Amino acid sequence: VSLQAFNTFGLPARARRYLRVTHADQLDGLRGDSAGTGLPCFVLGGGSNVLLTRDVEALVLHMAIEGREVIGEEDGKTLVRAGAGENWHAFVQYTLDQGLGGLENLSLIPGTVGAAPIQNIGAYGLEIKDVFHSLTVFDLATGERRTLTGQDCRFGYRDSVFKHAGGANLVVLDVTFALPRDWQPNLRYAELAQAVATAGIDAPTPRQVSDTVVAIRRRKLPDPAEIGNAGSFFKNPVVPGARCRALLESFPQLVHHAQPDGSEKLAAGWLIDQCGWKGKNMGAAGVYPKQALVLVNNGGATGADVMALARAIQQDVLERFGVELEPEPVFI
Ligand code: EPU
Repeated sequence: VSLQAFNTFGLPARARRYLRVTHADQLDGLRGDSAGTGLPCFVLGGGSNVLLTRDVEALVLHMAIEGREVIGEEDGKTLVRAGAGENWHAFVQYTLDQGLGGLENLSLIPGTVGAAPIQNIGAYGLEIKDVFHSLTVFDLATGERRTLTGQDCRFGYRDSVFKHAGGANLVVLDVTFALPRDWQPNLRYAELAQAVATAGIDAPTPRQVSDTVVAIRRRKLPDPAEIGNAGSFFKNPVVPGARCRALLESFPQLVHHAQPDGSEKLAAGWLIDQCGWKGKNMGAAGVYPKQALVLVNNGGATGADVMALARAIQQDVLERFGVELEPEPVFI
């Protein structure tokens, strides 16, 4: 089965075996080695955070479990659950339709509900972990279903247990969010606060915040339906405070944000931009002209093309700033 339509980069790659999973019980009987065939399992959601550099020698589990519902109240929060295969943005809009605020800052992020916890998606001052309640997994190692709490998921910046050894056997089936009943807008991210103010809105509703986030994202980020991409291609690197202060002496314009532990998060987009990569192409792969953190498929690119471009960028940033950039998508 070709996976080209199932990854937002639009890269050509095939799955050795493929299963579209619409019901959790389709997984019963599967194990890490896909029930004796010797092939490992590979879980695919919306394909918006993978870089397919070759054919996938695995049983690809394409998660398409649907369903979304408000399931109750707990500690002043409303619990809302969605199946792993639900489109993330459509789910955010559903919660807003129910009059529930809390997810609006994460509007228009590509991908599925089930993929959202894997990299603890975040944008505009909010991460999944801030509104997370629990999730259900199928454990390919034991064949059992389990519920994981936020603590079990060990969320970090674009990170969770699912990206590490202990979590690799877990297939997310559904996710439950806890949304505050006494909602307040989260306008900690300066660019969002500014856009709300510029629109002349004093006390924004969740819907208005969502609309503003959508407008900002449309301005800066390419629509994967038009130009293949996987959002930010690199994580924003975190460096020790002293390292940041030393860099500031040579580069006073350096964009940095202090972290609670004294370290500093640098804007990878700024570093790449400074190296002159914005809008540059290498073969059919390129750097998006409006946001240097996003690599794009200009048409006909392979995973190898994107990887070659990524390596060249990493090398330039390392030479110029001494900072290592870590890719955000999962490489196959
Ligand atoms: N910048 C440049 N040149 C560029 C791009 C950015 O100078 O080409 C500067 C900007 O001027 C700004 C700073 O870098 O001062 C940060 O840029 P921006 O606010 O656009 O956010 P970002 O750090 O590039 C992060 C997330 C995005 C998320 C936004 C908003 C990461 C790796 N990326 O991007 O997440 O939407 O903040 O919260 O943390 C994603 O993960 O796929 C993603 C899009």
